[in-house]
Amino acid sequence: MKRDEKVRYRIEELRRVIQQHDYNYFVLDKPIIPDFEYDRLFSELRGLEQKHPDLVTATSPTQRVGSIALNKFPKVKHRIPMLSLQNSYSPDEIVAFHERVLKFLKKEDDFQIEYFCEPKFDGLAIELIYEGGVLTHAVTRGDGTTGEDVFPNAKTIRTIPLRLYDESPPPLIEIRGEILMFKKDFLELNTQQQENGQEPFANPRNAAAGTLRQLDPQVVASRSLKFFAYAIGKAEGITFFHQSDLAPHFRRWGIPVVGTTDLALLSYKKGLSCVCKSVDEAVSFYKRIEEIRHELPFEIDGIVTKVNSFELQTALDFIARSPRWATAAKFTPSRAETKILNIVVQVGRTGALTPVAIMEPVVVGGVTITHATLHNQSEIDRKDVRIGDSVIVHRAGDVIPEIIEVLLDKREKNASPYKIPSKCPVCKSDAVKLTGEAVSRCVNPACEAKLRESLKHFASKRAMNIESLGDKMIDLLVDKKLIHTYSDIYRITFDDLIALDRQGNTSAQNLINSIEKSKKSSLNNFIYALGIRFVGEQTAKLLADYFGDLDKIMVATPEDLLRVDGIGEKMAFSIYEAFQQKSFRDEIKSLLKHGIEFEIRTKKGRRLSEVTFVITGTLPKPREEIKTQIENEGGHVLASVSKKTNYLLAGDEAGSKIENAKKLGVPIIDWNKFQKMLEK
Ligand code: IVH
Repeated sequence: MKRDEKVRYRIEELRRVIQQHDYNYFVLDKPIIPDFEYDRLFSELRGLEQKHPDLVTATSPTQRVGSIALNKFPKVKHRIPMLSLQNSYSPDEIVAFHERVLKFLKKEDDFQIEYFCEPKFDGLAIELIYEGGVLTHAVTRGDGTTGEDVFPNAKTIRTIPLRLYDESPPPLIEIRGEILMFKKDFLELNTQQQENGQEPFANPRNAAAGTLRQLDPQVVASRSLKFFAYAIGKAEGITFFHQSDLAPHFRRWGIPVVGTTDLALLSYKKGLSCVCKSVDEAVSFYKRIEEIRHELPFEIDGIVTKVNSFELQTALDFIARSPRWATAAKFTPSRAETKILNIVVQVGRTGALTPVAIMEPVVVGGVTITHATLHNQSEIDRKDVRIGDSVIVHRAGDVIPEIIEVLLDKREKNASPYKIPSKCPVCKSDAVKLTGEAVSRCVNPACEAKLRESLKHFASKRAMNIESLGDKMIDLLVDKKLIHTYSDIYRITFDDLIALDRQGNTSAQNLINSIEKSKKSSLNNFIYALGIRFVGEQTAKLLADYFGDLDKIMVATPEDLLRVDGIGEKMAFSIYEAFQQKSFRDEIKSLLKHGIEFEIRTKKGRRLSEVTFVITGTLPKPREEIKTQIENEGGHVLASVSKKTNYLLAGDEAGSKIENAKKLGVPIIDWNKFQKMLEK
């Protein structure tokens, strides 16, 4: 093979492998390689593409985030209109829908119709257009006839394949589905919005819609949007007969679906859609989903029941922009009345003052609610919330309690409008509201509330992951003046802890152990832990991937930082300014002196670097685990024995692979020998 061809081949291979890992990670939620191994593949691809720009293609995983912000999105007419669903709020309406279907089809009452039921996702509809298997457009529903092409934004969504996994894809397929934001990502985004002085989003749907409408794809890339497919528009070169046939094809192509399962097995992991043999089963499906909806990682607001046969769907047609073959039965939103006992002001990590309503405990959707954030002064003014008011609360986005209505006729006469104090409630310094920001902030850099919150962030799971150092413990350590900085955490001794109230030997030792354990960190977790303004988990990862080294990040100029895909001006300046401060740099040095270290991302020095294995027979550990172990050490696992195989790892009852290996002269090793190789 000529050199150029070799490069081309390797690039193609890397793209294929990365796409497969993206699918495992983002769609199946089951990564089979560690992050740093993925990053290695990615940077190899990026490196090769930089050297050979002529080989860069639009569907390369490196091309997800474009750097050019748009002025507006082009309008695109849908080849087949995107209809809307008739809504109702009760399972009885599913039965009424079934009766309408029978009547239209002129069938007897006992005629059975198969239905395909699935959740009604609470996001926004989109149509992904694949031409020759390549994603070319992503069009919003718009008015149903014409939508906007948000292609550059949709491309940044890692669960959407840029190319269908199919050797011979259909010439044209329009895949419809919903863009949404998971509850946890929504909570994180809102915390960040708050900290950054921007308006929080009311619910995950608004957050997803607001994000997708962003003109800057870099912003879209920095927020985790997800996609689930549920329908098709125009399809050429492929014919489907049932609604339930879509999911297996989607899955084969790498398109995320919630999956189909039996009614009895229904769960997010096993599948959330179901073929129902009768309308009664569809009603049971509604009830079953209503029970489990709060456990799902994303919001749904009901179920959709569709006639399963496409032939019948065509016969049923549509009326007034809604199909006769489908209906949506929504869940009744849970809400309750309660009373506001007080409004308190919390101080966040960046000094942002957040008003929070303390309420009489009330149960909403199975959860007892006592607090609801009021976000900022303009939100309080808009809702005119006052202490003592009777209010209606619900759980916005299923997760956050929100006051949706003040019952004015129940308001006491002497209730006065609430104003957020102009001083920090903790350190009494001035709180200032900068222009363009929605919140006011405590200006005192040494404010104890900021310190507490920063330390809590530093120790949290996704930062330094100091397991036994919970919020209460941090409060106690700050109260006792044992910690004033991040690095003080690493100065705490067993004796310090024992001297604290209520600290037993075991819990003191546990805390010391987990502090010690946290020293083995990763560069991205460490950067995130530092709590630099605008640097969330995603940005920390971008920095770690791009620079690979803390020293390089610390000396990076704003121009250097702007070269990183996904980092905009605001972030670049914030990062640069943070590292310009001597006290911050000294603190980092001090942390490193205490032995914080990052896992090594380079290939060199790993024990099985570039060694290829084939595994056969029964071994003491599951295959996947062994594979990960080999890959962590820089090796590869292939499916079949060839001349290129370095070792055949054979367990009990190994089959024909042994013969093959012998024929090709590939060394055969057993479990013990393999263990020795790892110990070397
Ligand atoms: S099928 C006739 N399936 O509901 C439309 N739609 O009111 C066929 N939606 O804009 C759409 N989950 O955003 C379908 N599982 C699901 C859905 C679903 C949510 C939304 C979609 C559409 C709206 C129609």
